[in-house]
Amino acid sequence: MLKLWEPILADLAAGPLDLGPRRFGLVAACDGGLLEVSGLSVPVGAMCRVSHAPGQSLAAEVIGFRNGRTMMMLLGDMILLRPGARVWAEGRPGLLPVGEAFLGRAVDGEGLPIDGGFAIHSRMEWPSGGVRTSALDRSPVRLPFDTGVRALNALTTFGVGQRIGVMAGSGVGKSVLIDMIARGASADIVIVGLIGERAREVSDFVERHMNAAKKDKTVVVAVPADHAPNLRLRGAMLATSMAEHFRARGRRVLLIMDSLTRVAHAAREIGLLLGEPGAARGYPPSALATITKLVERAGNSAASGGSVTGLYTVLADGDNQDDPVVDTARSILDGHIVLSRDLAQRGQYPAVDIAASLSRVMNDIVPPEHQQLARQFRALTASYEANRDLVLMGAYRAGADPQLDRAIAMHERLAAFLGQPQGDIVDLGRSAAQLAALLGG
Ligand SMILES: Nc1ncnc2c1ncn2[C@@H]1O[C@H](COP(=O)(O)OP(=O)(O)OP(=O)(O)O)[C@@H](O)[C@H]1O
Ligand SMILES: [Mg+2]
Repeated sequence: MLKLWEPILADLAAGPLDLGPRRFGLVAACDGGLLEVSGLSVPVGAMCRVSHAPGQSLAAEVIGFRNGRTMMMLLGDMILLRPGARVWAEGRPGLLPVGEAFLGRAVDGEGLPIDGGFAIHSRMEWPSGGVRTSALDRSPVRLPFDTGVRALNALTTFGVGQRIGVMAGSGVGKSVLIDMIARGASADIVIVGLIGERAREVSDFVERHMNAAKKDKTVVVAVPADHAPNLRLRGAMLATSMAEHFRARGRRVLLIMDSLTRVAHAAREIGLLLGEPGAARGYPPSALATITKLVERAGNSAASGGSVTGLYTVLADGDNQDDPVVDTARSILDGHIVLSRDLAQRGQYPAVDIAASLSRVMNDIVPPEHQQLARQFRALTASYEANRDLVLMGAYRAGADPQLDRAIAMHERLAAFLGQPQGDIVDLGRSAAQLAALLGG
């Protein structure tokens, strides 16, 4: 019991007493979750409370202002809200709670626990928009990052501090793959943002990862799809801020965001609500700028020696290349894993399409022999895939193309190399050794 009270008492002792008059605003208009409040001047990003029934209040966030009125977005439903309800500001605008207290916990977009545990007391805060550093503080990617997945470690080796996209249509295995990486990766801290996904998957994930050995270095920030768009956006900011906080302390952080597309959807909803014109596929420019900024926050820090390796899932339906989120993500990320529905339908999991996947830093971080083997592997799978129908129909005559002959002979073993059961972890060293054994032997 004492353990529960101690941090609260310490908080009370440390915080300055606020004896100033309390300012209230009044709700003047409300439509579709958007509130207009008169008489309350608070900055964008501030959290407010709206009293809607005696002794009860709703949370709202300031998202802009217009004609002297403050525009806010409710974080919940607008049940029982009436005109003239009182609104007051709460907490420190633009700052999100971070810190060691969150390790081993699952929280929502406001940083409140959803795992049924004790309240989290952290006196540390971090700006929700991040701390802007000069481009030269970003030290280059030099060390390989161990994902625990053989196909990725061997053929698209990623680096510590790299930003990676996992692109695939729905139901091809993005969430299962990041789940494997969250378990298998070597990192000091793993921060997982589950934004706009199914509530069932959130509870599954929390149950599995918060009982595992890595519990004490994992934080889950989960905002399911049915929550208000600004809460989803806040969740993404909270996860990123948390990662930046640990990086500033010199830790090697893995930040996972499932999914970046849903974050863009949330930003789109808010932009449209504020009257911004929708441009590409209905995305206002600010929505795409939001995800660019979010992704740019990952990377290595020269000052602290810490790093944030970012892994973002992107929903790319079919081979649709003109989706603005896919386009933006592809241009800003330094590598992508493409999952293929064809491979998934053939039962090959993880369904990594090696020919389409790419790590832009691989050549800087692995030895030349490894690069050479990876190129060989790619050439063999590409050659088999290009002639697959021909081979299956029996129309190919052996001997016509030595490369294809070798690809056909090795096909089973190549496919087995790419596959990996969900529970297995294959580290970097073993992945490279197995690749060498496969192609060299
Ligand atoms: N490694 C795997 N081993 C076995 N089955 C898998 C694997 N990966 C994915 N699957 C199958 O594919 C299904 C969908 O996977 P997953 O939920 O990861 O897709 P997703 O790409 O995240 O979809 P969405 O875009 O809808 O979130 C799983 O429920 C599972 O049946
Ligand atoms: Mg998913």
